[in-house]
Parts: sequence; C-alpha cells; structure tokens
Amino acid sequence: MANLQVNLPGLNMKNPVIPASGTFGFGYEFSKFYDINVLGSMMLKGTTLEARFGNPLPRIAEGPSGMLNAIGLQNPGVYAVMEKELVQLSKVYDDKVIANVAGSCFEDYVECAKIISRHPMIGALEINISCPNVKAGGIQFGTDPQMAATLTKAIKEVSQVPVYIKLSPNVTDIVAMAKAIEEAGADGITMINTLIGMRFDLKTGKPIIANKTGGYSGPAIFPVALRMVYQVSQAVSIPVIGMGGISSGADAIEMMMAGASAVAVGCQNLVDPYACPTIIEEMNQILDDMGIENIQDIVKKSHQY
Ligand SMILES: Cc1cc2nc3c(=O)[nH]c(=O)nc-3n(C[C@H](O)[C@H](O)[C@H](O)COP(=O)(O)O)c2cc1C
Repeated sequence: MANLQVNLPGLNMKNPVIPASGTFGFGYEFSKFYDINVLGSMMLKGTTLEARFGNPLPRIAEGPSGMLNAIGLQNPGVYAVMEKELVQLSKVYDDKVIANVAGSCFEDYVECAKIISRHPMIGALEINISCPNVKAGGIQFGTDPQMAATLTKAIKEVSQVPVYIKLSPNVTDIVAMAKAIEEAGADGITMINTLIGMRFDLKTGKPIIANKTGGYSGPAIFPVALRMVYQVSQAVSIPVIGMGGISSGADAIEMMMAGASAVAVGCQNLVDPYACPTIIEEMNQILDDMGIENIQDIVKKSHQY
C-alpha cells in the first residue's frame, strides 16, 4: 500500500481525499454509511454569518453527465453551525475540518471567517468567493482579481487558521485570479467551483431551475477542471486542492498529476454515498499497480511535458 499522506497548511491528512462543500452536509450525516474517519478531511457546507433559507424550488436539474444546482447557500448561520453541527460532527470525527465561508458583502465574509476560524475543529478556511457582492452592485469577488485580493488580505488578518480561496471557473483569466490571491497572502487555492448553466422544460420552454441559471458540476466538467488546475498550479507556488467532476480513483490521480496536492469530490457523493472511501481504495490500487510508493511522486507529474 502506498503512502497517501498529504501535509498542507493547517491540514495533516492521512490521504488526499476530501468531500467538497455542499455535497457532504456537515459530515456526520454520512457516518450512517461508513466511518468518516477514513477521509483526509472534509469541506463543510457553505456557512454565512446569518442563516439562509436558500433559493426557491426547484433547485436541482440533472443531466446525462452532470447536474445543475442553485441551492443558494442554505445554512443555519455561523453560530448554529458551531453550536449544533460541529458538536454533532465532533462525536463521529476526530480530525480537523475545513470551514467553507460565504457572504453577501465584504463585512459578512470577514466576520464569519473570524468567528468560525476560532473553533477547535477547524483546521483551515475555504472562502467561496463566487457569491455576489450585494454592496458593490452585483460584482462578484470571484471575477475581479483586485477585489479578491482585498478580501483575502482582510480574512488573513482575522483568521486563526490557514486560508484557502475557492476559485470560480466563470472567469476569462483564472491564472490572474490565482496570482492576485497568492500575492495577497492566501495559504492555498481550492478549485474549481461550478460552471454557470441552464436547462429548459421541453414542453413549456421554461427554465427547470426556479433561479433560471444554476452551477453545473459532475463528470462533464472534469477536463475543464484539469486544465484550470494545470494552468494555476504552474503559475503559483501555494498548494492547489483540485476538484470538479472527480468520480473515481483514476480521476483523482489524474487531478494530482495535473498539479493538485489534494482532491475534493463533489456531486459523486450524491450519486454514491460511498464515493470517497471507494476513491481512496482505488487510488491505493492504482498506485500499487504503477509501483509508486509515495503519492507525492505523482503531484505535478504532467508539468514535465
Ligand atoms: C448540491 C451542491 C451544493 C454545493 N454547495 C456549495 C457550497 O455551499 N459552497 C461551495 O463553495 N461550493 C458548493 N458546491 C460546489 C462544489 O463544492 C464543487 O466545487 C463543485 O460541485 C465541483 O465539483 P464536482 O464536479 O465534483 O461536484 C456545491 C455543489 C453542489 C452539487
């Protein structure tokens, strides 16, 4: 069996497999299926300062090779997450987890990050910058390198733990975003979030999702995610956690060859609740077959060509 251990800022993980935010709840729900301590870590459901009820239904539309969602960051708010959800999680999970933070404005992000970073179970923050910045008139932090850098700096000042910024693929130059975030002091990058998509009801022509557009994820976006992780990991020296369409151990290994130091698995958890432990086993098998003893040896393997 290969050594799958991965050490990243704030996260000393027995393997590189992490369930992605929004597809694994607050983790303890999955302990009904298996011992979640087999996971490297986990990214918690997106958390905001105040509770959010999310977007109107329907919020999900399936496709042949992926799904659209417009959940709208439904969550009970940062205090309820710490007082209820993390208490539940601590009963079934021993290690540090990654808190996923979102907000409607600059101040919300910073306050939420400050509060949740002080919880002893939180090893790192993942900042979801793909949410609209209401106060700036709908501009997204996720598409403006300058705004992303300003937010990164402000969160770094208040956070007790390392800060990872989660990049959106819905930009013209993802490398410019990554470089701005690195310069601003981020400890790492997680990528990619969903691509904006739509589906329509054939009979009426009406959008299936009440929000009209949704975030597209699943196997269809895997090559896009790989390309972006490859480009970004060549341009920055902070670690990248890669995600987008990973549904097998082979995909996870390919993502690490593209430049990811660890991987996150999103909607495959909804297809198969055992996806993450299966991916860990498959990675072990593939590395054994390849005669590779240490997973570190495959990270950025593609960069030599
Ligand atoms: C139902 C659903 C809910 C999600 N909620 C969040 C969220 O709260 N915060 C966030 O940063 N990303 C969220 N995401 C995005 C995923 O974390 C991930 O970046 C994306 O789905 C790509 O990975 P995948 O193709 O493996 O699903 C959500 C995705 C799905 C499918």
